Amino acid sequence: MTLAKIGKVQLHFRTYRGNMKTILITGCSSGFGFETANYFLSKGWKVIATMRNTADSLLQESERLRILPLDVSDISSIENVVALAGPIDVLVNNAGIGVMGALEGTTKDTIYDLFAVNVLGTINVTKAFLPLLRAQQSGVIINISSAITLAALPLLSVYTASKAAINAFTESLAIELAQFNIRVNLILPGRAPATRFGENSKSRMATAIPQPYAEFAQSVFKERNDNQITHSLDVINAIWQAATDSSCAMRIVAGDDAKSMVQNT
Ligand SMILES: NC(=O)c1ccc[n+]([C@@H]2O[C@H](COP(=O)([O-])OP(=O)(O)OC[C@H]3O[C@@H](n4cnc5c(N)ncnc54)[C@H](OP(=O)(O)O)[C@@H]3O)[C@@H](O)[C@H]2O)c1
Repeated sequence: MTLAKIGKVQLHFRTYRGNMKTILITGCSSGFGFETANYFLSKGWKVIATMRNTADSLLQESERLRILPLDVSDISSIENVVALAGPIDVLVNNAGIGVMGALEGTTKDTIYDLFAVNVLGTINVTKAFLPLLRAQQSGVIINISSAITLAALPLLSVYTASKAAINAFTESLAIELAQFNIRVNLILPGRAPATRFGENSKSRMATAIPQPYAEFAQSVFKERNDNQITHSLDVINAIWQAATDSSCAMRIVAGDDAKSMVQNT
Protein backbone atom coordinates (compact mmCIF):
# COMPACT_ATOMS: atom_id res chain seq x y z
CA MET A 1 0.00 0.00 0.00
CA THR A 2 1.34 3.47 -0.87
CA LEU A 3 1.88 6.11 1.82
CA ALA A 4 -0.94 8.21 0.32
CA LYS A 5 -3.34 5.27 0.58
CA ILE A 6 -2.25 4.51 4.15
CA GLY A 7 -2.88 8.19 5.00
CA LYS A 8 -6.41 7.95 3.58
CA VAL A 9 -7.11 4.77 5.55
CA GLN A 10 -5.82 6.37 8.76
CA LEU A 11 -8.03 9.42 8.16
CA HIS A 12 -11.01 7.15 7.55
CA PHE A 13 -10.45 5.31 10.84
CA ARG A 14 -9.99 8.54 12.80
CA THR A 15 -13.21 9.98 11.34
CA TYR A 16 -15.08 6.77 12.07
CA ARG A 17 -13.97 6.38 15.67
CA GLY A 18 -13.33 9.85 17.04
CA ASN A 19 -11.07 9.74 20.10
CA MET A 20 -12.76 6.81 21.81
CA LYS A 21 -10.60 3.70 21.69
CA THR A 22 -11.90 0.23 20.97
CA ILE A 23 -10.71 -3.01 22.55
CA LEU A 24 -11.72 -6.49 21.40
CA ILE A 25 -11.32 -9.27 23.96
CA THR A 26 -11.71 -13.02 23.44
CA GLY A 27 -13.25 -15.30 26.08
CA CYS A 28 -15.45 -12.76 27.92
CA SER A 29 -18.02 -15.15 29.39
CA SER A 30 -16.02 -15.37 32.65
CA GLY A 31 -12.74 -14.68 34.45
CA PHE A 32 -10.11 -12.24 33.20
CA GLY A 33 -11.98 -11.59 29.94
CA PHE A 34 -15.20 -10.65 31.70
CA GLU A 35 -13.41 -8.47 34.27
CA THR A 36 -11.27 -6.77 31.62
CA ALA A 37 -14.34 -5.93 29.53
CA ASN A 38 -15.97 -4.30 32.57
CA TYR A 39 -12.81 -2.40 33.46
CA PHE A 40 -12.29 -0.89 30.00
CA LEU A 41 -16.01 0.06 29.86
CA SER A 42 -15.57 1.85 33.21
CA LYS A 43 -12.66 3.77 31.66
CA GLY A 44 -14.80 5.03 28.77
CA TRP A 45 -13.53 2.66 26.08
CA LYS A 46 -15.64 0.96 23.43
CA VAL A 47 -15.55 -2.75 24.18
CA ILE A 48 -16.18 -5.64 21.82
CA ALA A 49 -16.60 -8.57 24.17
CA THR A 50 -16.48 -11.88 22.33
CA MET A 51 -17.53 -15.28 23.62
CA ARG A 52 -18.53 -18.67 22.26
CA ASN A 53 -22.13 -18.35 23.34
CA THR A 54 -23.35 -14.76 23.51
CA ALA A 55 -26.41 -15.90 25.50
CA ASP A 56 -23.92 -16.63 28.34
CA SER A 57 -23.04 -12.94 28.68
CA LEU A 58 -23.16 -11.56 32.22
CA LEU A 59 -22.00 -8.11 31.07
CA GLN A 60 -24.32 -5.20 31.76
CA GLU A 61 -25.68 -3.43 28.70
CA SER A 62 -23.87 -0.27 27.61
CA GLU A 63 -23.98 1.79 24.43
CA ARG A 64 -20.20 1.31 24.27
CA LEU A 65 -20.46 -2.49 24.53
CA ARG A 66 -20.90 -4.92 21.65
CA ILE A 67 -21.07 -8.64 22.28
CA LEU A 68 -20.06 -10.82 19.33
CA PRO A 69 -19.86 -14.60 18.97
CA LEU A 70 -16.38 -16.03 18.61
CA ASP A 71 -15.01 -19.53 18.95
CA VAL A 72 -11.27 -19.04 18.52
CA SER A 73 -10.80 -22.64 17.39
CA ASP A 74 -13.08 -22.10 14.38
CA ILE A 75 -11.65 -20.18 11.38
CA SER A 76 -15.07 -19.22 9.98
CA SER A 77 -16.06 -17.83 13.38
CA ILE A 78 -12.85 -15.76 13.39
CA GLU A 79 -13.53 -14.44 9.86
CA ASN A 80 -17.05 -13.56 10.92
CA VAL A 81 -15.90 -11.55 13.95
CA VAL A 82 -13.31 -9.64 11.90
CA ALA A 83 -16.04 -8.69 9.40
CA LEU A 84 -18.45 -7.60 12.14
CA ALA A 85 -16.01 -5.87 14.50
CA GLY A 86 -14.73 -3.03 12.29
CA PRO A 87 -11.72 -1.00 13.42
CA ILE A 88 -10.13 -1.83 16.77
CA ASP A 89 -7.18 -0.37 18.67
CA VAL A 90 -6.41 -3.24 21.02
CA LEU A 91 -6.84 -7.00 20.65
CA VAL A 92 -6.63 -9.18 23.77
CA ASN A 93 -6.16 -12.89 23.10
CA ASN A 94 -7.47 -14.11 26.43
CA ALA A 95 -9.57 -17.19 25.61
CA GLY A 96 -7.87 -20.27 26.96
CA ILE A 97 -8.41 -23.70 28.44
CA GLY A 98 -6.39 -25.78 30.87
CA VAL A 99 -5.70 -29.27 32.08
CA MET A 100 -3.75 -30.53 35.08
CA GLY A 101 -2.57 -34.11 35.08
CA ALA A 102 0.09 -36.56 34.03
CA LEU A 103 0.81 -36.68 30.32
CA GLU A 104 -0.06 -40.39 30.28
CA GLY A 105 -3.52 -39.59 31.65
CA THR A 106 -4.18 -36.73 29.23
CA THR A 107 -6.26 -37.83 26.25
CA LYS A 108 -5.28 -37.14 22.65
CA ASP A 109 -8.41 -35.02 22.21
CA THR A 110 -7.51 -32.88 25.23
CA ILE A 111 -3.97 -32.32 23.94
CA TYR A 112 -5.33 -31.27 20.53
CA ASP A 113 -8.02 -29.07 22.10
CA LEU A 114 -5.49 -27.24 24.25
CA PHE A 115 -3.33 -26.42 21.25
CA ALA A 116 -6.38 -25.60 19.07
CA VAL A 117 -7.62 -22.99 21.56
CA ASN A 118 -4.53 -21.69 23.36
CA VAL A 119 -2.05 -21.71 20.48
CA LEU A 120 -3.84 -21.86 17.11
CA GLY A 121 -6.70 -19.72 18.44
CA THR A 122 -4.31 -16.94 19.44
CA ILE A 123 -2.30 -17.20 16.21
CA ASN A 124 -5.35 -17.28 13.92
CA VAL A 125 -7.22 -14.44 15.64
CA THR A 126 -4.06 -12.32 15.56
CA LYS A 127 -3.41 -13.07 11.88
CA ALA A 128 -7.01 -12.25 10.96
CA PHE A 129 -6.79 -8.74 12.49
CA LEU A 130 -3.35 -7.87 11.09
CA PRO A 131 -4.45 -6.40 7.73
CA LEU A 132 -6.64 -3.94 9.63
CA LEU A 133 -4.01 -3.00 12.21
CA ARG A 134 -1.30 -2.70 9.54
CA ALA A 135 -3.51 -0.42 7.42
CA GLN A 136 -4.15 1.77 10.48
CA GLN A 137 -0.40 1.79 11.23
CA SER A 138 -1.32 1.40 14.88
CA GLY A 139 -2.56 -1.17 17.34
CA VAL A 140 -1.74 -3.26 20.37
CA ILE A 141 -2.01 -7.05 20.57
CA ILE A 142 -1.98 -8.50 24.08
CA ASN A 143 -1.57 -12.24 24.52
CA ILE A 144 -2.44 -13.90 27.81
CA SER A 145 0.17 -16.52 28.62
CA SER A 146 0.98 -17.91 32.06
CA ALA A 147 3.69 -17.54 34.71
CA ILE A 148 3.86 -21.32 34.67
CA THR A 149 6.22 -20.87 31.72
CA LEU A 150 8.71 -19.13 34.04
CA ALA A 151 9.32 -22.03 36.45
CA ALA A 152 8.37 -25.58 35.54
CA LEU A 153 5.81 -27.40 37.68
CA PRO A 154 4.81 -31.05 37.26
CA LEU A 155 1.42 -32.27 35.95
CA LEU A 156 1.14 -29.24 33.69
CA SER A 157 3.27 -30.33 30.73
CA VAL A 158 0.68 -29.86 27.96
CA TYR A 159 -0.73 -26.58 29.29
CA THR A 160 2.79 -25.21 29.87
CA ALA A 161 3.81 -26.25 26.34
CA SER A 162 0.82 -24.39 24.88
CA LYS A 163 1.63 -21.20 26.78
CA ALA A 164 5.38 -21.45 26.06
CA ALA A 165 4.45 -21.56 22.37
CA ILE A 166 2.52 -18.31 22.86
CA ASN A 167 5.56 -16.70 24.50
CA ALA A 168 7.80 -17.60 21.55
CA PHE A 169 5.13 -16.59 19.01
CA THR A 170 4.58 -13.23 20.69
CA GLU A 171 8.26 -12.36 21.05
CA SER A 172 9.02 -13.04 17.40
CA LEU A 173 5.88 -11.27 16.16
CA ALA A 174 6.62 -8.17 18.25
CA ILE A 175 9.82 -7.59 16.31
CA GLU A 176 8.11 -8.23 12.95
CA LEU A 177 5.25 -5.78 13.60
CA ALA A 178 7.18 -2.90 15.20
CA GLN A 179 7.75 -1.41 11.70
CA PHE A 180 3.95 -0.93 11.40
CA ASN A 181 3.63 0.73 14.82
CA ILE A 182 1.85 -2.36 16.15
CA ARG A 183 2.93 -3.36 19.66
CA VAL A 184 2.64 -6.96 20.83
CA ASN A 185 2.65 -7.72 24.56
CA LEU A 186 2.67 -10.79 26.72
CA ILE A 187 0.90 -11.03 30.09
CA LEU A 188 2.10 -13.77 32.45
CA PRO A 189 -0.46 -14.24 35.25
CA GLY A 190 0.08 -16.52 38.23
CA ARG A 191 -2.57 -18.90 39.59
CA ALA A 192 -5.95 -17.19 39.90
CA PRO A 193 -8.36 -19.55 41.66
CA ALA A 194 -11.26 -17.05 41.59
CA THR A 195 -11.87 -17.40 37.84
CA ARG A 196 -13.75 -20.32 36.27
CA PHE A 197 -10.49 -21.74 34.91
CA GLY A 198 -10.24 -24.66 37.35
CA GLU A 199 -13.94 -25.49 37.07
CA ASN A 200 -13.82 -25.28 33.25
CA SER A 201 -10.78 -27.59 33.18
CA LYS A 202 -12.41 -30.37 35.24
CA SER A 203 -14.15 -32.04 32.29
CA ARG A 204 -10.72 -32.71 30.72
CA MET A 205 -9.28 -34.23 33.89
CA ALA A 206 -11.36 -37.37 34.51
CA THR A 207 -8.46 -39.68 33.62
CA ALA A 208 -5.67 -37.21 34.33
CA ILE A 209 -4.01 -38.98 37.27
CA PRO A 210 -3.48 -42.68 36.45
CA GLN A 211 -2.76 -44.93 39.45
CA PRO A 212 1.09 -45.00 39.05
CA TYR A 213 1.05 -41.19 39.43
CA ALA A 214 -1.44 -41.03 42.34
CA GLU A 215 1.04 -40.75 45.21
CA PHE A 216 3.17 -38.21 43.35
CA ALA A 217 0.09 -36.14 42.49
CA GLN A 218 -0.98 -36.11 46.16
CA SER A 219 2.42 -34.69 47.18
CA VAL A 220 2.24 -32.06 44.42
CA PHE A 221 -1.24 -30.91 45.53
CA LYS A 222 -0.10 -30.84 49.20
CA GLU A 223 2.92 -28.66 48.40
CA ARG A 224 0.82 -26.02 46.64
CA ASN A 225 1.36 -22.59 48.20
CA ASP A 226 -1.96 -20.80 48.59
CA ASN A 227 -0.45 -17.82 50.44
CA GLN A 228 0.37 -16.04 47.22
CA ILE A 229 -2.12 -16.00 44.37
CA THR A 230 -3.05 -13.80 41.43
CA HIS A 231 -6.20 -11.67 41.46
CA SER A 232 -8.12 -10.63 38.37
CA LEU A 233 -7.21 -7.01 39.16
CA ASP A 234 -3.50 -7.85 38.80
CA VAL A 235 -4.20 -9.10 35.28
CA ILE A 236 -6.50 -6.19 34.42
CA ASN A 237 -3.83 -3.70 35.55
CA ALA A 238 -1.27 -5.48 33.37
CA ILE A 239 -3.61 -5.42 30.35
CA TRP A 240 -4.37 -1.73 30.97
CA GLN A 241 -0.66 -0.95 31.13
CA ALA A 242 0.02 -2.84 27.91
CA ALA A 243 -2.90 -1.13 26.17
CA THR A 244 -2.11 2.43 27.24
CA ASP A 245 1.63 2.72 27.92
CA SER A 246 3.76 2.38 24.80
CA SER A 247 6.92 2.35 26.95
CA CYS A 248 5.89 -0.66 29.04
CA ALA A 249 7.89 -3.89 29.00
CA MET A 250 6.97 -6.44 26.33
CA ARG A 251 6.44 -9.13 29.04
CA ILE A 252 4.36 -8.16 32.06
CA VAL A 253 4.21 -10.52 35.02
CA ALA A 254 0.89 -10.27 36.92
CA GLY A 255 0.23 -11.43 40.49
CA ASP A 256 2.30 -11.86 43.66
CA ASP A 257 2.91 -15.58 43.06
CA ALA A 258 4.02 -14.89 39.49
CA LYS A 259 6.39 -12.15 40.68
CA SER A 260 7.88 -14.54 43.26
CA MET A 261 8.43 -17.08 40.49
CA VAL A 262 10.48 -14.51 38.56
CA GLN A 263 12.58 -13.71 41.64
CA ASN A 264 13.26 -17.41 42.24
CA THR A 265 14.40 -18.17 38.70
N1 LIG B 1 -6.88 -18.66 36.17
C1 LIG B 1 -5.60 -18.94 36.15
O1 LIG B 1 -5.06 -19.51 37.13
C2 LIG B 1 -4.75 -18.54 34.98
C3 LIG B 1 -3.37 -18.37 35.19
C4 LIG B 1 -2.57 -18.00 34.12
C5 LIG B 1 -3.12 -17.78 32.88
N2 LIG B 1 -4.46 -17.96 32.69
C6 LIG B 1 -5.00 -17.72 31.36
O2 LIG B 1 -5.91 -16.64 31.41
C7 LIG B 1 -6.86 -16.76 30.38
C8 LIG B 1 -8.27 -16.57 30.94
O3 LIG B 1 -8.50 -17.59 31.88
P1 LIG B 1 -9.45 -17.40 33.15
O4 LIG B 1 -8.62 -17.69 34.36
O5 LIG B 1 -10.18 -16.12 33.09
O6 LIG B 1 -10.42 -18.68 32.97
P2 LIG B 1 -11.98 -18.79 32.57
O7 LIG B 1 -12.81 -18.11 33.59
O8 LIG B 1 -12.17 -20.26 32.35
O9 LIG B 1 -12.09 -18.01 31.20
C9 LIG B 1 -11.65 -18.57 29.99
C10 LIG B 1 -12.49 -18.02 28.88
O10 LIG B 1 -12.05 -18.62 27.64
C11 LIG B 1 -13.21 -18.99 26.92
N3 LIG B 1 -12.98 -20.03 25.93
C12 LIG B 1 -12.66 -21.32 26.09
N4 LIG B 1 -12.56 -21.94 24.90
C13 LIG B 1 -12.86 -21.00 23.96
C14 LIG B 1 -12.95 -21.01 22.54
N5 LIG B 1 -12.72 -22.13 21.82
N6 LIG B 1 -13.27 -19.86 21.90
C15 LIG B 1 -13.50 -18.73 22.59
N7 LIG B 1 -13.47 -18.65 23.93
C16 LIG B 1 -13.13 -19.78 24.60
C17 LIG B 1 -14.20 -19.44 27.97
O11 LIG B 1 -15.49 -19.42 27.43
P3 LIG B 1 -16.63 -20.54 27.64
O12 LIG B 1 -17.45 -20.02 28.77
O13 LIG B 1 -17.34 -20.57 26.34
O14 LIG B 1 -15.92 -21.84 27.96
C18 LIG B 1 -13.98 -18.36 29.02
O15 LIG B 1 -14.71 -17.21 28.71
C19 LIG B 1 -6.62 -18.13 29.73
O16 LIG B 1 -5.87 -17.95 28.55
C20 LIG B 1 -5.79 -18.86 30.76
O17 LIG B 1 -4.96 -19.84 30.17
C21 LIG B 1 -5.29 -18.31 33.72
